[in-house]
Amino acid sequence: MRFSIAWKLLFSLLTIACKIETQVKCLEFDFPGFNVSDYPKMILENSLISLGAIQVTPDVRGFSIANQAGRALYKKPFTLWRKGKIATFNTTFVINISNQTDPGGEGLAFVLTSEKTAPHDSSGMWLGLVNEKTNMTRTSRIVAVEFDTRKSHPGDLDGNHIGLNLNSIDSVVQESLSSRGIMISSKDDLIAHVRYDGKNISVHVSRNLDVYEQRNLVFSRAIDLSAYLPKRVYVGFTASTSNFTELNCVKSWRFEGLEIDGDRKLLWLWITIPSVCVLVIGAFLGGLYLRSRSKAGETNPDIEAELDNCAANPQKFKLRELKRATGNFGVENKLGQGGFGMVFKGKWQGRDIAVKRVSEKSHQGKQEFISEITTIGNLNHRNLVKLLGWCYERKEYLLVYEFMPNGSLDRYLFLGDTSRSNLTWETRKNIITGLSQALEYLHNGCEKRILHRDIKASNVMLDSDFNAKLGDFGLARMIQQSEMTHHSTKEIAGTPGYMAPETFLNGRATVETDVYAFGVLMLEVVSGKKPSYVLVKENQTNYNNSIVNWLWELYRNGTIRDAADPGMESLFDEEEMKSVLLLGLACCHPNPNQRPSMKTVLKVLTGETSPPDVPTERPAFMWPAMPPSFSDTEYSLPGSQIHSLTELTGR
Ligand SMILES: *[C@@H]1O[C@H](CO)[C@@H](O)[C@H](O)[C@H]1NC(C)=O
Ligand SMILES: *[C@@H]1O[C@H](CO)[C@@H](O)[C@H](O)[C@H]1NC(C)=O
Ligand SMILES: *[C@@H]1O[C@H](CO)[C@@H](O)[C@H](O)[C@H]1NC(C)=O
Ligand SMILES: *[C@@H]1O[C@H](CO)[C@@H](O)[C@H](O)[C@H]1NC(C)=O
Ligand SMILES: *[C@@H]1O[C@H](CO)[C@@H](O)[C@H](O)[C@H]1NC(C)=O
Ligand SMILES: *[C@@H]1O[C@H](CO)[C@@H](O)[C@H](O)[C@H]1NC(C)=O
Ligand SMILES: *[C@@H]1O[C@H](CO)[C@@H](O)[C@H](O)[C@H]1NC(C)=O
Repeated sequence: MRFSIAWKLLFSLLTIACKIETQVKCLEFDFPGFNVSDYPKMILENSLISLGAIQVTPDVRGFSIANQAGRALYKKPFTLWRKGKIATFNTTFVINISNQTDPGGEGLAFVLTSEKTAPHDSSGMWLGLVNEKTNMTRTSRIVAVEFDTRKSHPGDLDGNHIGLNLNSIDSVVQESLSSRGIMISSKDDLIAHVRYDGKNISVHVSRNLDVYEQRNLVFSRAIDLSAYLPKRVYVGFTASTSNFTELNCVKSWRFEGLEIDGDRKLLWLWITIPSVCVLVIGAFLGGLYLRSRSKAGETNPDIEAELDNCAANPQKFKLRELKRATGNFGVENKLGQGGFGMVFKGKWQGRDIAVKRVSEKSHQGKQEFISEITTIGNLNHRNLVKLLGWCYERKEYLLVYEFMPNGSLDRYLFLGDTSRSNLTWETRKNIITGLSQALEYLHNGCEKRILHRDIKASNVMLDSDFNAKLGDFGLARMIQQSEMTHHSTKEIAGTPGYMAPETFLNGRATVETDVYAFGVLMLEVVSGKKPSYVLVKENQTNYNNSIVNWLWELYRNGTIRDAADPGMESLFDEEEMKSVLLLGLACCHPNPNQRPSMKTVLKVLTGETSPPDVPTERPAFMWPAMPPSFSDTEYSLPGSQIHSLTELTGR
């Protein structure tokens, strides 16, 4: 037993050693197109993969795509230089920039940078590269080939040029494409080729595959990249919009970085000798450590084993590290208390984090802990709270997340009018659209379908720009897409007020029960009322006694406008507001088969299709449910609905 663990350790050290070696060697990848399975390979900020391309700024039509900055980087860094030697690279990518205003704005850039995230206020003319403060300072650490589509500051040559930017928004060289008959933001594919041979950087562009030909050279410039960038950089794209907008797509991307010249034999020695030493010592110490640990009875092999089974799980933290980060879980760092335990703010490696300490008393604690790590640990979506890592030591279950400066949505909705005034109609729409994208991704975009099962305002977090991120996957369940017949899951849990009527009868979570909860949340966000809101003391059954009923009543009386949160002070588009409320009601249809899928919800929100019809009279809840009457039921299986009462654990 001890030996097998020692071997495991040896093996993982060997893997690490190999990784170090490949990193020195080269970085090479090829995306002939993009789809959702590429999310784990990318670091996306305010960007997403849709329509076969990376949308470097969001492409949500009908909602605000103005004043955005986005960044999309390849996840693995590239070793650009080392000991005075510099790497070389070739990259070819196809971009399609489509102006939504005349002219479009602002542009897209191919970048090499050490920063995963865009600086604040880098939308507009800043192309997501730098902002007013970091422009031309050494802190920005970014080299870019910009495809600028608008003349937005005096330094810009025109509204259709390519430039080379070194830690600055002003280009050291720029060349207009107009004389070549190429308009960057014209909705057509543009093939670009950037080459760095260690001395010169050159850019070629063409509409055709003849991009490598000399006549397609835009510029070539001698430059020592190591003077501007650290040793290891990320490669990728940034883009921005202002009041002038465009869709910034990258449709394909190939990158090839060649190894740094050097004495490889020596290098090999440098890697092997220390590795072997580390291996031997590691195995010895590992053996001793494990023996002492198993004596103390502290290992929890089943948690470790279960987490080992899920591919590429997030980082494992040490309890010691997290104690230091949170001031030993000091009350002054406490952010809040949820159903599963307390959440603390911390600082780790200069970055703000949120640490959830899962309560020992939470009876499902361990299951929820594992569920959270295995479901969201591998997901990457800008509207899902990012799980950075976990820790299980000395009976402490800890989860580490990115820190959300604005806390949870319920705080803003229900804590008095002052904070509520931050929630303008635009912000609310943005929150709803963001969440619907997250849920659509969970339902249809992942390899395995995921049901969230506990959608509610307090599980929605807001980042510094009030973008919504869905969190708390403690109750989530993964479901194999292929096993469509098992698209529901038992041992129902959830929060009263958000639970679909059929849950009270069959105790099952389905995609439709998630849609119901999302519908309630939409109504809540627009009206600023809690889901259990009741107009008068009505003596009704559990599921009738709710915001849904109240809104259906207003809708029947033709006064649905009155539902708008007074906090918005009538500063909203009435038609838009009504259409969102009706969509919310459609999601809360008592008959699960009549609820729209998240795909449809998203299409309605983006204006691609009109809202579903909602009967003015709230339909009676019937069980078993009536079969679907329209085609929006790709995943509904009426047959699976007929089940007798099962366990029900409302929280
Ligand atoms: C994504 O594209 C890759 C090839 O580029 C393909 O193998 C894979 O099946 C695609 N995945 C989905 C979910 O479409
Ligand atoms: C880049 O392309 C050129 C021409 O095709 C080739 O000679 C060179 O070796 C390539 N460099 C790298 C790093 O792939
Ligand atoms: C895009 O720009 C062209 C001119 O370059 C203009 O004719 C067209 O109206 C613009 N598109 C939009 C949606 O404004
Ligand atoms: C950026 O910094 C450079 C150098 O300090 C300066 O010349 C330029 O005007 C700045 N650009 C903008 C748009 O502020
Ligand atoms: C470029 O993108 C626009 C909008 O997404 C699309 O309408 C157009 O067909 C695309 N062009 C090509 C050549 O694919
Ligand atoms: C780099 O470009 C300059 C012109 O800008 C050219 O004279 C020189 O030969 C090029 N060097 C290499 C190594 O290609
Ligand atoms: C963008 O438009 C808004 C509203 O029309 C206006 O108040 C603002 O000044 C504009 N911003 C810029 C940079 O033009």
